[in-house]
Formats: sequence, C-alpha cells, structure tokens
Amino acid sequence: MSLSKLFRRKSTTTILQQGGDAEEHSGGLHRVLTVRDLTFFGIAAIIGGGTFSAIGNACFSGGPGVVILYVICAIACGFTAMCYAEFASRVPVSGSAYTYAYVSFGELFAWIIGWALIMEYSIGNIYIAFSWSGYFTNLLEEGFHIHLPAWLTINYQSARDAIEAGKGAEGIAAWNNAPMWGGLRIIFDLPAVAINVLITYLVYRGTKESKNFSNIMVVVKLVIIALVIVVGALYVDIDNWTPFMPNGFGGVMGGVSAVFFAYIGFDAVSTLAEESKNPQRDLPRGMIWSLVICTVLYIILALVLTGMVSYTLLGVSDPLAEIFALKGVKWMLFIVSIAAVVAMTSVMLVFQLGQPRIWMTMSRDGLMPKKFSSIHPKFKTPGFATIVTGLVVGVPIFFTDENFVLDFTSIGTLFAFVLVCGGVLVLSPQSEAEMAERKASGKFRIPYINSKFIYPAIVVVSAALIQYLFPTFFKDVFRFTEDNVITNCSMIVFLILCIVMAVLAFLKNLSLIPLLGLISCCYLLTGMAPSNWKWFGVWLVIGLVFYFCYGYRKSKLNSTQP
Ligand code: ALA
Repeated sequence: MSLSKLFRRKSTTTILQQGGDAEEHSGGLHRVLTVRDLTFFGIAAIIGGGTFSAIGNACFSGGPGVVILYVICAIACGFTAMCYAEFASRVPVSGSAYTYAYVSFGELFAWIIGWALIMEYSIGNIYIAFSWSGYFTNLLEEGFHIHLPAWLTINYQSARDAIEAGKGAEGIAAWNNAPMWGGLRIIFDLPAVAINVLITYLVYRGTKESKNFSNIMVVVKLVIIALVIVVGALYVDIDNWTPFMPNGFGGVMGGVSAVFFAYIGFDAVSTLAEESKNPQRDLPRGMIWSLVICTVLYIILALVLTGMVSYTLLGVSDPLAEIFALKGVKWMLFIVSIAAVVAMTSVMLVFQLGQPRIWMTMSRDGLMPKKFSSIHPKFKTPGFATIVTGLVVGVPIFFTDENFVLDFTSIGTLFAFVLVCGGVLVLSPQSEAEMAERKASGKFRIPYINSKFIYPAIVVVSAALIQYLFPTFFKDVFRFTEDNVITNCSMIVFLILCIVMAVLAFLKNLSLIPLLGLISCCYLLTGMAPSNWKWFGVWLVIGLVFYFCYGYRKSKLNSTQP
C-alpha cells in the first residue's frame, strides 16, 4: 500500500469535465432547479425535527439561555455555509462535502467525509421519522380520534428502557400489551416505517415531483411557524426568562446535539448541483438564503418558547404542542401537529434526495459499487441508491431510539463541517484571472480577510474574557475526575488547536472566514458526550475497513494516476 495513494486528489478540472455545469455533462439528471427552489430545499431540510422535537430537551437542559447556543450554532453554520458556497461555486457537482474533500484533502479524507455524511443524511432521517411519528400520532388522536396501539407507535428499544426503568407510561403499555411472535415482542414504530416508505417512493419517482411537493410543504411550514410565533408571543411572560442559565453554561452546552441538529440541512442544497440550472451562481445563494431565514426564525422561536412557560416543562418530545396544551390553546395544538408533520416530511424528503446523490458520486469515483450510480431510465433518478437509502433509514427504525440517532447525526455532521472549512483553508488560491472571471459572471467568492493579526487577537481577547467571566474555567479543564476525562480532553485539544491555528494564521495569512468556521465547529464538537465519541470512533473504523477492502483498490484514480 502506498501512502501517497491515500491522499491522491481529484483535480477540479476533471470533476467539472465529469459533471459540471453543461447540460450534456449532467449525468442524465434533469436540470430543473432555480435559486428559489434551492432556497426552498434548504428551508425544507433545515426546519424539522430539531425545531419541533429536539428543542424541548435543549430548553430543559439550558433554560432560556439556550438562545445563546442557537446564536453560536448559527455563527458556526454561517461560516460553514460560506465555505460550502465557495466549494459549490468552484466544484459544482453532486456529492457535497465529499467531493470538496476529494479536491482539497485527497481520497482518504473524501471517503471519511462520505462515510460521515451517511450519519447526517440517513441516520438523521431516522430521528426525524421517530419525531414525525410522535406528532402524526397526536394528529390522529386529536383530529380524527384514531388511537393506534402503543406497541405500534414506539420503538422496541424505548419500550424496553421504559420497562427496565419502571417509568414512561407509553413504553410500559407497549411492552405489556405487545403481541408475541416466537419468544419476541412485536413492538415497532409503524408511522415511522410508513413515512420512510412513502418518502423513498417519492424520491425514487423523481426530483420534479418531489420538488413541487417540497415547495408546497415549505410554504405551509413557514406560514404556520409564523403563526406559532405570533400567537405564542401573546403568552410570553418575561419572568420566565430568569434565571437565564439555570444550569450554567454547561447546561446550555448540554443541548448542543439538539440545537445543532436544528441547523443541519443547508448543506443538503449542495447535493443538487447537477439538477440546478446554474449551480455556480445559484447554489451558494440558495444555501445562504435558507440559513439566514431559518436562523432568524429559530432565535425568535426559542425566545417565545422559553418565555411562554418555565423551561422545566419543556423536556418533552413535542414541546410546541405542549406549550399550547399548557396554555389551554386547543386550536393551536391541531395546527402545530399539522405543521410538525409537514415540516418533518419535507426534511426527510430533502435528506433522502441527498444521500443517493452522494453515493452516486462516490460510485462514479469507484469508491462505491457501480450499481450506486445507475440512473433509472424513466425517472432519471439514482434508483438503486435511493432504494438502499430507504433501507438504511428503514431497518434501524426497528431497533434504535431517538436520542442515540440524534447525537450520532450531530457529531458526524459537525465532523464533516470541520473538514469542509479546513478544505477551503488548504484549497489552492485561484489566479487573478479566475477570480475576475468568477466576479464578472456573478459566481460566489468567499471574501478574503487576512487573519494574520485578527485571529490571534480574537484568541487572546476571548481567553482574557473567559478568565474574567469564569475565573475557574482554565483550572477546571485540567482537573480530571472519573466522569470528565473525555470532555476535558476534547476541550484541551480544542485550546491547543486555537493556539496552533493562531500561529498558522500569523505565518500563512490564512483566510479568516474558513478559519472561524473551522474553529467554531470544533468548539461545538467539544460539547459532545463521551458516548458519542465512542460510537463515532466505531463508525469511522468500520468505514475505514470498507475503504481499504473496496474503494482503495477500485478507485478510478488508480487508472489515471501512477
Ligand atoms: N435540521 C433538520 C431538522 O431539524 C435536520 O429536522
């Protein structure tokens, strides 16, 4: 095995020749999407389970201070979106961060990102399917008085946890009343399975149908969220905003998986490069617009939510319905349930569109079997990869639970974001002529701000501020107990990274925006729980075994490079 082969890179020119802007290179996919469609896709992917479900536990853990976490995540995602946009403008083909890593870091990192993105796109959809099921079941009960038995509305793992812990009425009822088959209790989340089958079918049928469906759902979703904010605002009691951080900053950071999850999705836009009319101009715009719109909505929503009731009442899986139930606003319950179902359907749709397209690109590169890039002759979609995605989402629905998949998704996605920002930092600068050409044709360029002095200054000022506001912070990081080894180690690694990057910024005049993107995403990673790191490590090892057994040998670069 040669080490240099692991870091072999694809050139931007080759990538553009294989699947760039031109219609004839669109790999058989229809080019139908405009900037408005892309923005809608972004919003469709962003506002979903994170807003309707996960926000509850984030508020419960952090109190009203959770809005700080929304701002931090928005900043991290904003910088990352600009890096995605830079890449999308330079390398406008399907494949998202995977393709970008192939250009900047080489094949091994590209594979690792492709592998990590499975967590974002497929594992993330498992969480959303579970949340969708919760609100859908509410809707059936509130709106149509249809009661599904408990053993058909909960996953097996949650029911078993409930019976072992002796709490959780739904889980206990499911366990006790479930029919038996052989020695096994039949307990599964039927609505979650059903929505996955429906989404897989829609995506298999084609982007155009899916696009129209998605656009309608986004409009409905935005209108209803605006209504939630307006009606909710009438019930805000500012006394609920104190204490602002009842569990300290640690409590706020405890919600990092949930809050970050709510922002995931803007990057999914980049997987539609080959179905966009003008990807180099429109992809960046679609991504940034969708992120800006959602950020504004989130911050207002988080303020309204924590202002309406005490944060202690928000630790439920359907917090937006819960607040209106607590305030006795019955008519809003029904509307919120509809909005949640609609919102989450559109998120699933976008993610399930994205995953097969990433696999398609990896397959074209030889890193995945050829079948993954086969295009359905009639529907012009990557049919086989779409069905495999449906299975990757559908099968675990039978034996995982919400919290596990939520954490897993957030850590994998953050990891991919870090590599995208790092990728822009190491990407070779474009020539004056290329920059001028991009400017003239309206293509996105990340503004270059020299970080030489600014970044080291930010590090020094931040350290001084932390020392002033939290005098024991730095001492505590080096005070290890049995429970905090991994958390403290990740913070120490982060602090070292800040210093190393400050030196590099000074020596190499790094570009400020990708640098801040990298650092802010790394900071969010320090909030991940030790068990997340453990499972993430296992996932990476499995991915590497796959790569060395298959992709390393089959890579197309084997035939084009010595
Ligand atoms: N941001 C997406 C959601 O919250 C993943 O559902």
